Amino acid sequence: MDLLCPKHFPDYELIDCGNFEKLERFGKYIAIRPEPQAVWDRSLTSVQWEDKAHVRFISNANYEGTWKKLKPIPDSWQISYPLPNGPVLNFKLALASFKHVGIFPEQAVHWDYIYDKISKLKAADKDSKPKFLNLFAYTGGASLAAKAAGADVIHLDAIRQIVTWAKGNMELSGLTDIRWLIEDAMKFVKREVKRGAKYQGIILDPPAYGHGPNKEQWKLEDNINEMVKNVLKLLDERQHFIILNTYSLSFSSLIIENLMRREKGELRIGELYLQANEGGKLPLGVFGRHSRGL
Ligand SMILES: C[S@@+](CC[C@H](N)C(=O)[O-])C[C@H]1O[C@@H](n2cnc3c(N)ncnc32)[C@H](O)[C@@H]1O
Repeated sequence: MDLLCPKHFPDYELIDCGNFEKLERFGKYIAIRPEPQAVWDRSLTSVQWEDKAHVRFISNANYEGTWKKLKPIPDSWQISYPLPNGPVLNFKLALASFKHVGIFPEQAVHWDYIYDKISKLKAADKDSKPKFLNLFAYTGGASLAAKAAGADVIHLDAIRQIVTWAKGNMELSGLTDIRWLIEDAMKFVKREVKRGAKYQGIILDPPAYGHGPNKEQWKLEDNINEMVKNVLKLLDERQHFIILNTYSLSFSSLIIENLMRREKGELRIGELYLQANEGGKLPLGVFGRHSRGL
């Protein structure tokens, strides 16, 4: 089992975590956000946290709370992620709803993997156009990494404003020509199976709960098996990689292994985490990566 954490992300730092919160730096600004997995004690004192932070998310029971500014901080700003062997990806960040800021930094390990795999496909045949599908794509880190490596990219999310945000990140990163879809992920995938579409790369990072644009319900435990069965049918038989990532307190990586097991190819399962400067490792979900011919 692999335990993965971004190795070089100068614009991001997990300073400390504990007491159900995390203290993080995004570029020049430091935020305190709720973190249900941080069930242990923080290493620094709460006074030290408040001294450092520019902003704190005060949550109610559904994480629908509000941002409280403690020091001057703009409503939006920019950070960068340098792909290890590739270009720099740029992201707009903002104090958004549900404690979000527009990036899940732990996902950077998947961006590296995607960039590496697409680059390998391109190196084997420089005229090839690997097809890459990003489902539940949010602000597009994975889409940018695939595009930067030269793939034809489809980016799908249910929320129009989120897709507009992702498009802005593409432009900030100096990239063009990602195909944007505002759709229900399950409906799209089933249609693609009927059409006989094939992809060399797919990532899906579904939430625990969600909705399609027409209120189609998504519930991880109820829908993930059907989703994975369909998505596996979309993979190019000869050469492909697929990443399934989930962040749910009740999901073990062995569940991912059982969902993704196939006869041929290689399956690696693991856990994502962020290393705190003070204190330990913050777990941030489980994943499986299956690849064949790559
Ligand atoms: C956990 S985020 C994905 C994070 C992303 N992998 C990243 O690292 O940036 C989940 C996303 O799924 C989208 N979503 C939820 N339900 C959906 C559905 N039924 N169809 C398509 N997208 C959906 C949400 O709008 C949200 O942007």
